[in-house]
Amino acid sequence: MRNVLIGITGAIAAYKTCELIRQFKHTGDQVKVVITENTLQFLGKKTLETLSGNIVYLDQFREKGSTEHISLVDWADVFVVAPASANTISKIADGIADNLMTSVACAYLGHKKPFVVVPSMNTGMWENDIVQENLKKLENAGVYIIEPEYGFLACGVEGKGKMPEPSKIYKETLEFLAKKLPLTGKKIVITAGGTKEYIDPVRYITNASSGKMGLALAESAHKLGADVTLVSTFSHNAPYKVLEVASACDMLDVVKAEFENSDYLIMAAAVADYRIENPKTQKITKENNETLRLELVKNPDILKSIAENKKLNQKVIGFCLATENLLECAKSKLEAKKCDFIVANEAEKSLGKDDTEIYIISKSDETKHFENISKKQAAVKILELLYD
Ligand SMILES: Cc1cc2nc3c(=O)[nH]c(=O)nc-3n(C[C@H](O)[C@H](O)[C@H](O)COP(=O)(O)O)c2cc1C
Repeated sequence: MRNVLIGITGAIAAYKTCELIRQFKHTGDQVKVVITENTLQFLGKKTLETLSGNIVYLDQFREKGSTEHISLVDWADVFVVAPASANTISKIADGIADNLMTSVACAYLGHKKPFVVVPSMNTGMWENDIVQENLKKLENAGVYIIEPEYGFLACGVEGKGKMPEPSKIYKETLEFLAKKLPLTGKKIVITAGGTKEYIDPVRYITNASSGKMGLALAESAHKLGADVTLVSTFSHNAPYKVLEVASACDMLDVVKAEFENSDYLIMAAAVADYRIENPKTQKITKENNETLRLELVKNPDILKSIAENKKLNQKVIGFCLATENLLECAKSKLEAKKCDFIVANEAEKSLGKDDTEIYIISKSDETKHFENISKKQAAVKILELLYD
C-alpha cells in the first residue's frame, strides 16, 4: 500500500484524473489530492473528496500554523501531477511556489522523491520552446515525464497534447517506481516482536517488545521496493509476506530458511535469551503445587549463527537493547556476532514506544546518532545503510 499524492491543475483533461484516483484506490493505495484554484473551473471538490476519501488540498493557508506543503511531501510515496498545465509546469521548473501545488512540488523536488508529471495541453502550448525547456529542466531534476499523445483535442484541433488514458498513467507510474526505488529486486528478512517461550500449552514468558520497530522497517522496506518477509511473533495483515512464529527456536528455523535466498536480514525482534527446559504438555494446575520452579536453558543465538555464516553478498543488521552501558554493549555485540551494523537503543527511550533514539554503529566503528525520531524515521535511516 502506497501513499499517492495526485496533483490536478486547471486543464481540460482534469476529468480523466477521477479515473486515475479510482485505479490507485482500487489496488489499496491511499490517495490525497492537491489542486489549484483553476482546477475548480473543471472539477468539483466533492467529486475528488468522495473518490479519494480525503479532503482536497488547495489553500496553503487553510489552517493557522499549518505547514501542509511539507506534511504532504512527508506523507507521499509518489507525487503524480496529471494533467499538468503549461502554467504549473513552468512555475515548478522556475522554482516558483505561489500556491499549495507548486509549494509541494518545490519541496518534493528538493527531497528527490518520486515525482511524475503528465503534461496535457493544446498543441501550440506543447510545441512552445519555453514549455519544452521547462519540461527538460524537470526531467534533469529527476522528474519522470509521461508525454502527451497525439489525437483530437478539446480545443478542436488534431495534434499532440492529449493526456494518456488513466490506465497508462497508472501502469507507467508503477513501472517508474519499481525502477526508482532503491531496494527493488532485493529480498529482505525482518524480524519483529518479543519471542514467546512456553511454560505449558497456555502460558509463556515474553518481554515488553511491541514489535513497532520491526513493523516500521518492514513497511518502509516494502515502500522502497524490497521483497519483504516479516518474521513476527504476532499476526499482521500486510501487502508483503508475514510468517508468524512463537519461540526463539521457531524464529531461528524460519529465519535460516528465509535468509538462504535473501540479500539482507534485520533482526529487530526481541529474542528471549532463555527458554523453559521442559515445557509441560498439559496445563500446570495449582493443586498440590505450593511453589513452581522453572528451569531455564539458553536459547540459540539467532543473530550470531546467521551472521557468522552469511555469504559475501549478504548483509546482517542486528539490534542491541540495554538499560546501561549501551554503546559498549552494542560494540561488543557487533564484534562478537559478526554483523555488518548494530542499532543500539536504550530500553527506557524505545521499548514499546512510538518514538526512539538510536545509535547506528558500523563494522569500521563509525557511529551515527538520531534522537527524538519516530520509529518510521528510524526505519528509513536504518534501511539507507543497505543502499547508500
Ligand atoms: C477551457 C479551458 C481549457 C484549458 N485547458 C488547458 C490544458 O489542457 N492545458 C493547459 O496547460 N492549460 C489549459 N488551459 C489554460 C489554463 O487553465 C491556465 O493556464 C491556468 O492558468 C492554469 O492554472 P493552474 O496551472 O494554476 O492550474 C485551459 C483554459 C481553459 C479556459
